[in-house]
Amino acid sequence: MNFLVLSRNPALYSTQSIVQAGRRRGHYMRVIDHMQCDLIMEKGKLQVVYQGELIDDYQAIIPRIGNTATNYGAAVVRHFEMMGVFSTLDHESLLRARNKISSLQLLAAHGIGIPKTVISNNPYTVSESLDSLGSLPAIIKLENGTHGIGVILADNKKNAESLLETFHKLKQRVLIQEYIKEAKGADIRVLIVNDKITGIMQRQAQPGEFRSNLHRGGNSFVVRLTEEEAVTAKKAARIMGLKVCGVDMLRSSKGPLILEVNASPGLEGIETTTKIDIAGKIIQFCEDNVTKNL
Ligand SMILES: Nc1ncnc2c1ncn2[C@@H]1O[C@H](COP(=O)(O)OP(=O)(O)O)[C@@H](O)[C@H]1O
Ligand SMILES: [Mg+2]
Repeated sequence: MNFLVLSRNPALYSTQSIVQAGRRRGHYMRVIDHMQCDLIMEKGKLQVVYQGELIDDYQAIIPRIGNTATNYGAAVVRHFEMMGVFSTLDHESLLRARNKISSLQLLAAHGIGIPKTVISNNPYTVSESLDSLGSLPAIIKLENGTHGIGVILADNKKNAESLLETFHKLKQRVLIQEYIKEAKGADIRVLIVNDKITGIMQRQAQPGEFRSNLHRGGNSFVVRLTEEEAVTAKKAARIMGLKVCGVDMLRSSKGPLILEVNASPGLEGIETTTKIDIAGKIIQFCEDNVTKNL
C-alpha cells in the first residue's frame, strides 16, 4: 500500500516511528507537510497538490496534526476523506477533540466521569462561578493550552478570583475545574487503536508539581487498568469518534475521570515506556480497512 503521513516535521519521533513501521511491513511511506498542501475543488472533482505535484495513488493517510495547525489540517484531512482515501483520523473528530469545552460537554452528557468543570463568560460573577464548582483548590485551565502549560492550581478563593478576573480582562477563556487531590500528581495515558487498548502508561509529576505531562518533567511507567478504567477509556474514544487516540484519565475516589482525549497522541513516551510497537498497530489498522474495502 501507499501511505501518506501528514506531519510538519519528518524528523519527529512519532512520524519516524510510523514511517519505519510501515516500511517494515512492506509499504511505501511518504511524509508530507499538510500546511503545504493546496486543496483544489471543482464540480465533482477534488485534488491535492503538494509543492506543485499532484498527490494521487495513495490508499491511506495518517494525520499527525499539531495544535497550531488544527483548522487547515482538518481541511486537508477532509479533502482526502472526500477523495475516498482512508484516514486514521476523522476530520470532525479532530476538530471536536481540539475543543476542550465541547469535548467535556460531550463526555459528561454520555455519562463519562470527568472532573467537575465550570465555564463562565461573566467577569462580574467570578465568586459565584467558584461557588458553582463547590470545592477548593480549583484548577484553572486555558481553553487552548497544551503540554500542561496553562494549567494552574489556585489553592484559595481569593487567588482563584483574581486569576479569573485577570483572564477575563485578557479575553482568555478558561475552564474552572475541581482539583483531584487523590490523583497525587499522576495520570494514566491509554493509547487506543481501532477501539482496542494497545498501550497503557502512568505518568507521575515531579515532586512539588501536580502536572504529570512528560513535557513538564513527569516520569512514566507501565501500569494495569481496572475493568472500569478500560471500559471508560474505550467508551471515551468511541464518543469522541477517534480511532487512534490517547485517553488521559485520573484515578479518583469517584472512579476514573477523563481529562482529555488526544487526537494526535505522541508515540515516543508510550512506545519507549511499554516497548509496544504502537505505530505497527496503526499501520495494521489501515491495512485492515483498505483491504476490506478493495
Ligand atoms: N482537575 C485536575 N485535578 C488534578 N490534576 C489535574 C487536573 N487537571 C489536570 N491535571 C494535571 O495536569 C496535567 C495537564 O492537564 P491537561 O488538562 O491534560 O492539560 P494539557 O492539555 O495541557 O495536557 C494532567 O496531565 C494532570 O496531571
Ligand atoms: Mg494533557
